[in-house]
Amino acid sequence: MCGIVGYIGSLDSQSPAEILIQGLKRLEYRGYDSAGIALLNKDEIYTCREIGKVKGLEDKWLAAENTVNYQVGIAHTRWATHGKPTEENAHPHRDSSGKIAIVHNGIIENYQSLKKHLVNAGHEFYSETDSEVLAKLIGYHYKGDLLQAVTDALNQVHGTYGLVVACKDEPNKLIAARKGSPIVIGMSDKSSIIASDVSAIVSHTKHVIYLDDDDLAVITPGNVDILDLNHRQVSREVQELDWDTDSTQKDGYEHFMLKEIFEQPEAINNSIRGRYNLSIGNAILSGLSGVDKELASISQIIILGCGTSMHAGMVAEYAIEELAGIPVKVMQAADFRYRNPIVGPNDLVIAISQSGETADTLAAVKEAKQKGAFVIGLCNVVGSSIAREAGRGVYLHAGPEISVASTKAFTCQVSVLLLLALKLGRSRRLSLAQGVEVAQAIKSIPAINQLLLDKQFNHIATIAPAYTQAHSMFFLGRGYLYPVALEGALKLKEISYIHAEGYHAAELKHGPIALLEEGTPIVALLNDIEGKDKMLGNVEECKARGARILGIITEGDTQAAEICDDVIEIPSSHKLSTVLSTTIALQLFSYQVAKLKGCEIDQPRNLAKSVTVE
Ligand code: M6R
Repeated sequence: MCGIVGYIGSLDSQSPAEILIQGLKRLEYRGYDSAGIALLNKDEIYTCREIGKVKGLEDKWLAAENTVNYQVGIAHTRWATHGKPTEENAHPHRDSSGKIAIVHNGIIENYQSLKKHLVNAGHEFYSETDSEVLAKLIGYHYKGDLLQAVTDALNQVHGTYGLVVACKDEPNKLIAARKGSPIVIGMSDKSSIIASDVSAIVSHTKHVIYLDDDDLAVITPGNVDILDLNHRQVSREVQELDWDTDSTQKDGYEHFMLKEIFEQPEAINNSIRGRYNLSIGNAILSGLSGVDKELASISQIIILGCGTSMHAGMVAEYAIEELAGIPVKVMQAADFRYRNPIVGPNDLVIAISQSGETADTLAAVKEAKQKGAFVIGLCNVVGSSIAREAGRGVYLHAGPEISVASTKAFTCQVSVLLLLALKLGRSRRLSLAQGVEVAQAIKSIPAINQLLLDKQFNHIATIAPAYTQAHSMFFLGRGYLYPVALEGALKLKEISYIHAEGYHAAELKHGPIALLEEGTPIVALLNDIEGKDKMLGNVEECKARGARILGIITEGDTQAAEICDDVIEIPSSHKLSTVLSTTIALQLFSYQVAKLKGCEIDQPRNLAKSVTVE
């Protein structure tokens, strides 16, 4: 959560302020409660902070008409943890001398005791944040050597940080540090750019270094020295980014969410390309090569994730149990981590995370590894903390997902998990013919999804107006479509603020049906796959209580269409592919409802893209 950018160098074409503000805009999806910038030279540190989005900060900076020549700067977009989204609480924060400024992501757990100590030493505080305590602590230790002051401060801190520090007395360098919150450094000839993720870097350079936990970096224009907390040199590989700048732009779409919905056929293609072989009816996952022996000996699979990623895991639970006959448990990552989980060497743990930075999932991976489980990561962001901590796994190759509401990450996660289910199935109980059928179903996913987008986008826009006034909506599904119902409800609530719940349709009569009133909308996943007959009965029960039914049905299914008030037709396909096209229909539905309601689709209130705090 929160976005950090730091810049040092000289680019003729852009000033540091322009570079930093542009970087913040790219990172804004990580938090948008307030934003701030600090620019410095040997004479001064100039700070500008504003409540709300980066645009407000940009306007304020432009209105200030500051023409001073700065070559160093740090900037931050905030998702509030300690203290309200006020200007005082906005980063950058400064030490008591006013010479040092920091931007910080993460949480300083012992900030209260450190603050007490600093207050006793005469320091005064202007904000409620733990980050200001860190700034003051660095200032407290500063005796003319910024690296040493940062090191001394970090040695006193408990908690997590992604940190960039600037000092007016040492204007030719920035210090960055990482523990539990990512920091990436982009290198080019005359400049260096530091950020909490590569979206802010990719338009400047493709050459990046990811810091590891407990790394310190001394950054000068075009150069970086990486040290541990004892100031021993450590070496980190320079990696080349395969994202291009276009993939972080809207490309003419009104919202990133819509762009990412429409990108799904291509994104899924990128996820599955070269990873299935029709003639042998099997999946080839190079990230899992050489571990067939370990996979053959597993007796249980535990899938970990949060939010949408957990829902993807729930689809995989059905697929792996059906295709491979291995028992699967899906667990919310925080729940796993805090319950002293029963997991050991014969268990495969699959950690799913688009960002690869979700704090609970990362901690759960560490817990599973520590208990001896065989852990694999399923991440989109290459080099992310979960991918690195897991040590092995499969990347999604979905391209950057900017919209806070996750769309293409889910469909790519499910596609890759289906490949894994196929691989596990073929090594256990699936015949060649069955393997070929599944491989063909996976291959068909992008084309079926394209068909759905082509045929249903305009139609969904015409039915959405009937649902914008709803106070509550219920999404019902069975079997493979139960997690899809959960995901459909999550999407609607997060971007349209309509209260929405997903239920297994069989659960309705055990309580939730009491909530139905005349006109309550029900989204019923009535696709023509196992469970449809029972779903038809459940829908009748809802209708009898006055519900308005939006049916997601298989194209041409008149029996299902007849009992619905509105329908969205899904192209007929293998059920494994149907799961994905149905999800996409629900994404479009949520998008259209939220758009009609005038909601901030890409940046819904209170949310941030990566939840890097517990
Ligand atoms: O980056 P991750 O996949 O670990 O993120 C997990 C959730 O925070 C994420 O899926 C969240 O639920 C999305 N906002 C859903 O659209």
